[in-house]
Amino acid sequence: MVGLQWGDEGKGKVVDLLTADHDVIVRYNGGANAGHTVVIGEEKYALHLLPSGILSGGKICVIGNGVVVDPEMLLSEIEGIRSRGIEINAGNLLISDRAHVVMPYHKEHDAALERVLSSAIDDSGPGLSIGTTKRGIGPAYADKVHRSLAIRMGELADADHLRSRLEVICAIRTRELDALGVEAPPLDPHELAERYSEYGRLLENHITDTVYALHDFRNNGRSILFEGANACLLDIDHGTFPYVTSSNCSTLGIPAGTGLPAPCADEVVGIMKAYTTRVGAGPFPTEDTGPIGERIRERGNEYGTTTGRPRRCGWLDLVAVRYSAMICGATSIACMLLDVLSGFDELKICSSYRLPDGTVTDRFIPDARRLLNAEPIWETVPGWAEEIDTSQNRSDLPPEALAYLDRIQEILGLPIHLVSVGPERTQTLAGSPCG
Ligand code: GDP
Ligand code: IMO
Ligand code: MG
Repeated sequence: MVGLQWGDEGKGKVVDLLTADHDVIVRYNGGANAGHTVVIGEEKYALHLLPSGILSGGKICVIGNGVVVDPEMLLSEIEGIRSRGIEINAGNLLISDRAHVVMPYHKEHDAALERVLSSAIDDSGPGLSIGTTKRGIGPAYADKVHRSLAIRMGELADADHLRSRLEVICAIRTRELDALGVEAPPLDPHELAERYSEYGRLLENHITDTVYALHDFRNNGRSILFEGANACLLDIDHGTFPYVTSSNCSTLGIPAGTGLPAPCADEVVGIMKAYTTRVGAGPFPTEDTGPIGERIRERGNEYGTTTGRPRRCGWLDLVAVRYSAMICGATSIACMLLDVLSGFDELKICSSYRLPDGTVTDRFIPDARRLLNAEPIWETVPGWAEEIDTSQNRSDLPPEALAYLDRIQEILGLPIHLVSVGPERTQTLAGSPCG
């Protein structure tokens, strides 16, 4: 399952629901920039690095090689989940020995670069920061691609080895941080090696060759659920570059991020909100900065799970979703947060853009500079007044809500297999919307 917009589509809830039918749940990309919320009865969980399947007993969760792991955050997340009575052991949490480590200097670099860029100016104007989560994601993936200064989970527990690597790394990183204006004492390789090798030892029983483990699970007929983090429009290759994250968060990231060859997924559930949100900078053609966006934000409680930032809100952009569904090979759609749209007299859907030269296109533009000039062409449809969060079946929904879902299916050419009308497991309507 994969997000088809700019993140926060409700992936945590869907993974929690789908986990019941799977044996193994795998994260293949991203890091602690993700924030997946699962609500079970009175309990609310926010997961960042752990696959959301960890909350259901008896499942095996895997952090694949494509993930960047902040061991300090992971250990604190494990502790937090354990303290709520959920078992995490070497058998139900496997971490790839090839996953790259997010170090403190990655987070400092991320924050410092954002600070410098926020006051920088180029021909597109002032303020060039991406609005990252400051979790060190970009610098950690940059090290992976750059190779020589990268550290992988498999080498963390060896203190002597780590110290000798960090002596070189810290000398270079200190100079880079200094150049970015960070006023701090030089990085201390001894302190870092001691702390991080201890994290390595604490996680040692979980760290393994997950590529062979996943192939074994598959050969033994175990069913595997891939939990996409971030979302397709934030994909480093196919999103709204440069306002994206640093991994392949579309389903195209699954083979590289797990070691299972393509095509490894029989079914791809594309998750979308019934409207659109985005956190951080970057073009957002259907954004509404007036009262409509404000109303969506308040009704949908659209504040970041990871950073608490208010999310930018607007009507549904189906040009974007149709593109993401194509890139990800979606076979069905889960339409989330439909309840948030109750009470609007009318709703708007965008299924094509007008470009500055007057031409109309129904193709997405995965390039920030050009997408800025795309103007949405609206289709207005009737809204509904009733609250729908207590609906049990699709037949309980007002006809206008059913018509809205139908129109989405028609434009996307995909069936909506799941409709969500609230954060809880029970607030889910399955089945085909209009027969
Ligand atoms: P994710 O990153 O895709 O897992 O999504 P987030 O957890 O960051 O944000 C989705 C938010 O919407 C969370 O607070 C969920 O509890 C909540 N949520 C999920 N589905 C629904 C829904 O159908 N209706 C409402 N009102 N909230 C929902
Ligand atoms: P989930 O899995 C929403 C956004 C950030 C920023 C850009 C780059 O919860 O849907 P990064 O820290 O990755 O370098 O930031 O990507 N971003 C997300 N936005 N939900 C997410 O994850 C996100 N992960 C990254 O806000 O604009
Ligand atoms: Mg989120």
